This record gives sequence, structure tokens and C-alpha cells, in this order.
Amino acid sequence: VNGLQGKVSIITGAAQGMGLATAQEFARRGAISILVDINAGKLERALSSVKAIDNRALNFVVDVGKKDQWVQMVKNVHEQLGSIDVLVNNAAVSATTPFEDISEDEWDRIYAVNVKGVLFGCQAVTPYMRQQQTGRIINMSSQAAKTGGLVIGAHYSSSKAAVICMTKSFASALGPDNITVNAIAPGIINTDFLQGVPGIENSFSRIVLGHKPGEAIDVAKAIAFLASDDARHITGETMNVNGGLLMD
Ligand SMILES: NC(=O)c1ccc[n+]([C@@H]2O[C@H](COP(=O)([O-])OP(=O)(O)OC[C@H]3O[C@@H](n4cnc5c(N)ncnc54)[C@H](O)[C@@H]3O)[C@@H](O)[C@H]2O)c1
Repeated sequence: VNGLQGKVSIITGAAQGMGLATAQEFARRGAISILVDINAGKLERALSSVKAIDNRALNFVVDVGKKDQWVQMVKNVHEQLGSIDVLVNNAAVSATTPFEDISEDEWDRIYAVNVKGVLFGCQAVTPYMRQQQTGRIINMSSQAAKTGGLVIGAHYSSSKAAVICMTKSFASALGPDNITVNAIAPGIINTDFLQGVPGIENSFSRIVLGHKPGEAIDVAKAIAFLASDDARHITGETMNVNGGLLMD
């Protein structure tokens, strides 16, 4: 079920957390996982763990906020493998600075990765997907986009709201070429990310399924569904994966 046999799948932020869980789940479903991250050391270890599942996996050190690096990497993947089937824009950075204290530099740093990174990724794969007349893009948003954030900064939560809007905009633009664009809005997921969000444990009681965070694999399975043929009539959608933390 939800097979991804032979699908060339670029996953950003794949050195750890949900990106790594997604690369592993895709490999289990027969995809060729392309792991992309800015952290070269962690990325190397992540690639080994995915290769243990499917030896065809590759990795690339890329800063998703840099358009030229995107263009080069996607070209390289296409030359090696002949198609670009799936893009998962998962890489992001966060901060908890109260909005009154956010400097212009800090605002720009969050937006460079979380907003421009998604734009550049979609721009980089689009020519190949249009030519193929098929493609799947999945962008990582957050419950913070809808709630304003539980304890996270306004730069982060508003960047994730931009992701939902870009998802709808690009879905309209790419639908005629049979390319779907969807988003996931995770709630609270057990990754290293939570260490940067002190006080988040006060919200665990609002997670109706077990009053505890979800696991990275829970999100990875939702991404795999959206990447699969089973989701062929779904586009412009933002799917909650939050254990009932927010129902909308
Ligand atoms: N963990 C949660 O509770 C939660 C909740 C909602 C949304 N999210 C979102 O889900 C996604 C994955 O979260 P996670 O918890 O696995 O995060 P994480 O912090 O564990 O991993 C993020 C990865 O992105 C990489 N990265 C950061 N900047 C980069 C850049 N410029 N270029 C390339 N790679 C870069 C990091 O090196 C890291 O490997 C993110 O978009 C995050 O905002 C997380």
C-alpha cells in the first residue's frame, strides 16, 4: 500500500527528526530518498541509516535558503536519476523571542529558511515536474500557523502561515500539469526541535490522543500518503497531524 517504488524523492532537513524519519519511510516503500541538509556531519550518519534500508539513497549538503544551491542540487539529481518525482520541503529553523524583541536580522534568518527555502525548492523542481506532467510537493507547516503558536516566536508561526498560503498558490499554478502541492501541520512531535521550545510540555495535556507528543514516524506516514498515488485527487490541502491538539 502507498507504494513509492522508484520515486526520486528529495527530502530537506533530512539529517534528523521528521525529515530523517520520512527518508527512512520512503526507502521502506521503495523510493530513492535524496537526503538534503545543511548539517554535513549528521547528514552522513543519516544517509547510512537510510542506505541500510535501500542502498540507492543519496545525500547533498545544501542551505535551502540559497537558490543557486537548490538549482545545482536538483540538476545533479536529475542527471543521475532521470526524474524528480517528489519534493518534501521539511527543513526549518525556529526561535521563541517575544515579538517586541525580534531584531530585523533574526526575522530575516527565520524567513530565509522557512519561507524562501520553500519558494526556492518549489521553483527548482517545477521545470522537471512540468516536463514529466507529474509530481508531488509536500511542505511542512505547523499548528503554530493556525494558533499563532503555543510558545514559539511570531517570526516562526507567521513563516509557517506563509507555507500554507504558498501551498495553495502553487497548487493552483501547478494543477494543470498534474502536480499536487500539499502541506502538513504537525502538532507537537517528539524531536530535538522541542528542546528549543521550553515550556511546550505545558501543552501536552491538550493532545487528546494520550496527552503526549506524536512521533516523527507518525508525520512521515502522512507525508508518504500525500506522495503516493492514493492522494492523486488531493491538492492545496493542509493536513493536521496533531493527536487532536487542534481540530479545524
Ligand atoms: N517538532 C515539532 O513539534 C514540530 C511541530 C510543527 C512543525 N514542525 C516542523 O516540522 C519540520 C521538521 O521538524 P523537526 O522537529 O524534525 O526539526 P529538527 O530541528 O529536528 O530538524 C530540522 C532539520 O533541518 C535542518 N536545517 C535547518 N536549516 C537548514 C537549512 N538552511 N538548509 C538545510 N537544512 C536545514 C537542520 O539541520 C535539521 O537537520 C520543520 O519544518 C518544523 O518547523 C515541527
